[in-house]
Amino acid sequence: MGFTNKTQKNIHRILFIVLLHFLHVFAQTNNSRIDQGQVIRDGDTIISPTQVFELGFFSPGNSRFKYVGIWYYGFQNRTVAWVANRDNPISGDSGVFRIGNDGSLIVTDGNGTVYWSSNSPSAASNLTAMLFDNGNLMLSTVQNIGVDTDAIWRSCDHPTDTYLPNLRVYLNITAGDSRSFVSWRNPNDPSKGNYSMGVDTRGSPQVVAWENQSRRRLWRSGHWNYQIFIGIPQMRSLFLYGFNLVTVNDELMYFIFNNRNATLLMRFMVQWNGLVQQLTWNSQTSTWDVMFSLPSSGSCEEYNRCGDFGLCRIVNSASVCSCMEGFDRNSTGACVRRTRLNCNSTGSTTDGFFRRTGVKLPDFADQLVVGSSDDCKNGCLMNCSCNAYAYVSGIGCLIWGGNLVDVEQFGQGGETLFIRLADADLESGKKASKTLVIALSVTGAVVLGIILLLLWRFRRSLKECRSPCGKTKTPPSTLEAANSQENLVDMSGQQELDGKPYEGPSLPLYTFSVLEAATDGFANKNKLGQGGFGPVHKGILPGGQEIAVKRLSRSSGQGLVEFKNEMILIAKLQHRNLVRLLGYCIEGEERMLVYEYMPNKSLDTFLFDATKKTELNWKTRFNIIEGIARGLLYLHRDSRLRIIHRDLKVSNILLDEEMTPKISDFGMARIFGGNQNEANTIRVVGTYGYMSPEYAMEGLFSVKSDVYSFGVLLLEIISGHRNNSFRSHDSTNLIRHAWKLWKEGKPDELIDPSIIDSCDKTEALQCIHVAMLCVQSSAVQRPTMASVVFMLEGENTSLPQPTEVDITSLSSVEMDLIMEGREINISSNDVTITEVSGR
Ligand SMILES: *[C@@H]1O[C@H](CO)[C@@H](O)[C@H](O)[C@H]1NC(C)=O
Ligand SMILES: *[C@@H]1O[C@H](CO)[C@@H](O)[C@H](O)[C@H]1NC(C)=O
Ligand SMILES: *[C@@H]1O[C@H](CO)[C@@H](O)[C@H](O)[C@H]1NC(C)=O
Ligand SMILES: *[C@@H]1O[C@H](CO)[C@@H](O)[C@H](O)[C@H]1NC(C)=O
Ligand SMILES: *[C@@H]1O[C@H](CO)[C@@H](O)[C@H](O)[C@H]1NC(C)=O
Ligand SMILES: *[C@@H]1O[C@H](CO)[C@@H](O)[C@H](O)[C@H]1NC(C)=O
Ligand SMILES: *[C@@H]1O[C@H](CO)[C@@H](O)[C@H](O)[C@H]1NC(C)=O
Ligand SMILES: *[C@@H]1O[C@H](CO)[C@@H](O)[C@H](O)[C@H]1NC(C)=O
Ligand SMILES: *[C@@H]1O[C@H](CO)[C@@H](O)[C@H](O)[C@H]1NC(C)=O
Ligand SMILES: *[C@@H]1O[C@H](CO)[C@@H](O)[C@H](O)[C@H]1NC(C)=O
Ligand SMILES: *[C@@H]1O[C@H](CO)[C@@H](O)[C@H](O)[C@H]1NC(C)=O
Repeated sequence: MGFTNKTQKNIHRILFIVLLHFLHVFAQTNNSRIDQGQVIRDGDTIISPTQVFELGFFSPGNSRFKYVGIWYYGFQNRTVAWVANRDNPISGDSGVFRIGNDGSLIVTDGNGTVYWSSNSPSAASNLTAMLFDNGNLMLSTVQNIGVDTDAIWRSCDHPTDTYLPNLRVYLNITAGDSRSFVSWRNPNDPSKGNYSMGVDTRGSPQVVAWENQSRRRLWRSGHWNYQIFIGIPQMRSLFLYGFNLVTVNDELMYFIFNNRNATLLMRFMVQWNGLVQQLTWNSQTSTWDVMFSLPSSGSCEEYNRCGDFGLCRIVNSASVCSCMEGFDRNSTGACVRRTRLNCNSTGSTTDGFFRRTGVKLPDFADQLVVGSSDDCKNGCLMNCSCNAYAYVSGIGCLIWGGNLVDVEQFGQGGETLFIRLADADLESGKKASKTLVIALSVTGAVVLGIILLLLWRFRRSLKECRSPCGKTKTPPSTLEAANSQENLVDMSGQQELDGKPYEGPSLPLYTFSVLEAATDGFANKNKLGQGGFGPVHKGILPGGQEIAVKRLSRSSGQGLVEFKNEMILIAKLQHRNLVRLLGYCIEGEERMLVYEYMPNKSLDTFLFDATKKTELNWKTRFNIIEGIARGLLYLHRDSRLRIIHRDLKVSNILLDEEMTPKISDFGMARIFGGNQNEANTIRVVGTYGYMSPEYAMEGLFSVKSDVYSFGVLLLEIISGHRNNSFRSHDSTNLIRHAWKLWKEGKPDELIDPSIIDSCDKTEALQCIHVAMLCVQSSAVQRPTMASVVFMLEGENTSLPQPTEVDITSLSSVEMDLIMEGREINISSNDVTITEVSGR
């Protein structure tokens, strides 16, 4: 292995010095700053470096009072984002804003009476307060200007009614509601008004708007599943712009909205009339466009509009209320249970669950620490006060003990809620569906005729294809040929393949009838599982060769892209630790891929099975780890293409008869061009729990996203627990649990008890160490797969200590460096770049 590249190192050192110099020059421009000893009088202002925000004294609307505030620079109508002395205005124009004797920022009148103070006493000298282009006013020493972590006081930690993008708002998890934003009283009065907005961190966090005094809820976003707020189904496309809640430790989390487009001005606020709004600046009309305004009155967003156990849905753009299944309205209009639950503390019950899909889950959930959705269901049945449960990807098991409050039925998106009902009420549900069946069967006769006709035509089109196709024909030499010949999918979604003809090894083309026969007509008994885009069946070719056939379900529209992607990619790859593609079939509407058959199925069938996991002793597990690492290294570096798998997980690791691991499912993989190292995707695909923070958060993926997934895999293999459903009394997932043990100096407690005897302790601890390096939240600090293989194989290698830094604190320069496949070590005043080159 070769190491440091001197020239590179020097170049980057120079870059770094230039950057520091720039920061220095930056700090010299004092019209963005108030230094100790300077004052801002009424009429003076300071302006952020590129003239985005301005700070000074102002009077809102027709008010005769004076406030110190931060507003957007240069707008005709002043838009105020922050106010210092909101509850204590100055009358007259003698106001002064300065750094007081105790080091706090203060607002005084001409006589020196203090109207407001930041209450942040500091003995440091050379204090300064600087207004930044993100709207943040930061008090620090001159030496530490702009260093977030060294700030003495920041205005964004004490917001008024407005949230500005890219600023972090810290929340105390254990303290419950954090009502960070309080509305103005009215447009002329910034004092604390009737409404507030913030995050309720109990159970699983959600954004909530309250009426200030009564604490009555007005609106909530639904729970945060570490990707989106599940109560906002349209957020699936929104979250890529960067809304995120990040857990710092067991007590602290922060939320941040990463604005991708710095030139687009945007703010979130709670209006004086209680509306929660997102506004963006329209420079053409010089007005703020309202992106959303919640809750609109009379809509289903209005908190608990249909009452407890009610269900709100939109019908012809009007909201309609009904009671949930098994509930009826009583004379006062409340939804009440039809039949009492049959609960018995012994756990035996005749109650069951009604499954309602696509809803905004009720408020006030309790989280239950269980391993699977069945455990979640039982956890609810065992508890006599449990009215419903849900098992949510990214969150786990939620149960509701009290009334079911604020439930909305979505047209699309949403989660599945299991509502607990007595046997009798469930029966009536079944009867209703029986009558439906009868009604359907009458209509069915007519429909059946049509279907048969279509089927006949479909078969005919298959035959038409088959006869010229012959038995097994020679494959097309380029994919373009396949395209034109078979009228395949449009490739526009896969730019990286544009114009590059398919030059891989020739693959056999199988006919539909051959594969149909091999799999007994895709019989259920031969089904191996569900792949990324369709079912996988086991088959036996006439020669006796065992195969696995992946068939694209015709219903999945987007699967076509993945099908083609996988076919092109995997045909070009040859490695012992990658599953081998034997051929394919494109016929009529059928799309199939044929693989070698793996008798031991996938790793998860062993790892998470109480009895079968014992078959995986430490030696086997270590071989599997090494194999996956080598397969991944081949993808990242050694194959002619540079490939990022993007969906590495236990169920995608197949095992042959010798338990050799083979990476499979390339439906989501991407090829990186020669000098393209980072990519950005509009569709975030992959699996919860295996996605690296920068990918889940920003849609940025690189080889380092795979390294993260590999780290998760390592932890799962060592511990025998699933990351997603792992729960212990104090950690919400396996990674956090591992970090905790690591910090407490007892990583060995992570090792699966069922292998502790067969385990080589040093080897296992080395693996845990490597895993911790791989799951660091900073992509920069994760090792490359080359280093991982080296660390796994090397004896007595001393490894760096992992740190759990926060990805959003990395500069784009650092990002760029790492995306070029280098590793950089950041210390406070030096950047070293090491390049790991091939042997
Ligand atoms: C900026 O600095 C100059 C010279 O150091 C000083 O004269 C001036 O008052 C400062 N301006 C402000 C707004 O602090
Ligand atoms: C400024 O505010 C006034 C009063 O609210 C309004 O009539 C006017 O249209 C606004 N001007 C612009 C440019 O938005
Ligand atoms: C300062 O104090 C004096 C005496 O208390 C008062 O008359 C005067 O109005 C005050 N001036 C200001 C600007 O508050
Ligand atoms: C304050 O700043 C001046 C000039 O930048 C510097 O000479 C002095 O050492 C600083 N004082 C402290 C306590 O840092
Ligand atoms: C969070 O709040 C709890 C209880 O209010 C308090 O004990 C704890 O110190 C707070 N933690 C932080 C980090 O502020
Ligand atoms: C705020 O609450 C007060 C007292 O409850 C009420 O008089 C006032 O109208 C409310 N203001 C708004 C804007 O709702
Ligand atoms: C709103 O809530 C804040 C914080 O709890 C409180 O200080 C303020 O007085 C409240 N305002 C009103 C009008 O109730
Ligand atoms: C960023 O926002 C500005 C202003 O709205 C717009 O003109 C520009 O096209 C946007 N850029 C990108 C990359 O979206
Ligand atoms: C209707 O149900 C509500 C909620 O359970 C209850 O408080 C109320 O007393 C009921 N009214 C009647 C008339 O039964
Ligand atoms: C609870 O269930 C057990 C077993 O079905 C039964 O023997 C017992 O009588 C029940 N207890 C109550 C209070 O219903
Ligand atoms: C039953 O569920 C309620 C509500 O979630 C919870 O508060 C209570 O602790 C649970 N009881 C038991 C015995 O788990």
